[in-house]
Amino acid sequence: MKSVACIEDLRRLAHRNVPREFMDYYESGSYSEETLRANRDDLAGIKIRQRILRGAANRDLSQTVLGGRNPLPLALGPVGLTGMAWRDGEIAAARAAEKAGIPYTLSTLSICSIEDVAAAVEKPFWFQLYFMKDRGFIADLIARAKAARCSALVLTADLQVLGQRNRDIRNGMTVPPRIRLQTIAHILSKPAWIAGVLLGKRKSFGNVQGRIAGTEHLRSYMDWINSQFDQALSWNDVAWIKERWPGKLIIKGILDVEDAREAVKAGADAIVVSNHGGRQLDGASSSISMLPGIVDAVGSETEVLFDGGIRTGQDVFRALALGARACLLGRAYLYGIAAAGEEGASKAIDIIAKELDVTMALAGLRHVADIDRTALIGAS
Ligand code: FNR
Repeated sequence: MKSVACIEDLRRLAHRNVPREFMDYYESGSYSEETLRANRDDLAGIKIRQRILRGAANRDLSQTVLGGRNPLPLALGPVGLTGMAWRDGEIAAARAAEKAGIPYTLSTLSICSIEDVAAAVEKPFWFQLYFMKDRGFIADLIARAKAARCSALVLTADLQVLGQRNRDIRNGMTVPPRIRLQTIAHILSKPAWIAGVLLGKRKSFGNVQGRIAGTEHLRSYMDWINSQFDQALSWNDVAWIKERWPGKLIIKGILDVEDAREAVKAGADAIVVSNHGGRQLDGASSSISMLPGIVDAVGSETEVLFDGGIRTGQDVFRALALGARACLLGRAYLYGIAAAGEEGASKAIDIIAKELDVTMALAGLRHVADIDRTALIGAS
């Protein structure tokens, strides 16, 4: 880890450790990956104002999110199948987040279950919910999240139908999976991954296993999930969730001002401006380009969180300047997990925190709350 300087270094290590088919699943955007690229390109296009001699010593990176004070304006976002990058990858990520004092979000489609993660950490984590047709199962998941003392429910609303990821089709990561000789060769070339993940005890969706009849094998889980995404979902269904979940509700997958207003009406305590890391609607705008308009429309009524393309502390600075309260990391920490488990996730958080700290110093700002549009060129 000593020679790792940035998230890109962790990404390279991840590719060294994890078979190509899984890395493709993690890296992919949907269809032509236009939106995936736009997330990064648009962030890089935002220029930060260099300011000098303004007394930038003793910087404070802390931020309040949903009433809790965190040492950093960050959270780890939900990433399905994290546990296929490293044995018990979700536990590793939750522990890294706990050490950094920031929230961890466990995906519905995780390998470790809610209970597995709850047993491994002291502080509450967030649980991400996909709303599926099987209401009994959803009610049960919500009850389990409550029993595990989850401190917020993150309702992901941008996946009523799956955006096609071309690389997954080519690699045979389909339903049913198509195992090719090449895949076997890729897997055999990663002995540490075989020993860590393939020979580990958890290899299926931990939150689903044993809860739904006929879901004993990965293939049938995938069948079940594909048949379960509820395309008829509407804003009215959020009330059904709120009846069962009296705690903090975060709605994730907002990319439109009108939807942001609907989310506020539906009672969201926070929203995540997100296009699912470019994995859903290809051709949609980058997350960062939609952030300022959404902040202007609802920023005084709800907390606006952000994700999509964050790979550096400079990116976090840009999102904060455009009004985000905090950023969710996605692939940035996933690369860390795939590179070195908990240590890798901690490294990812540390890299981004240090980059943000130096960026604040060079921009002449001492507090996260002072980072606003005037810190950018041409954005105020
Ligand atoms: C995701 N994302 C996601 N979101 C969610 O709400 N539930 C999930 O299970 C997943 N699964 C998932 C898997 C993988 C491999 C990726 C890359 C992403 C979306 C995620 O929470 C977040 O919105 C994006 O990852 C943010 O973009 P970046 O930072 O990865 O570019």
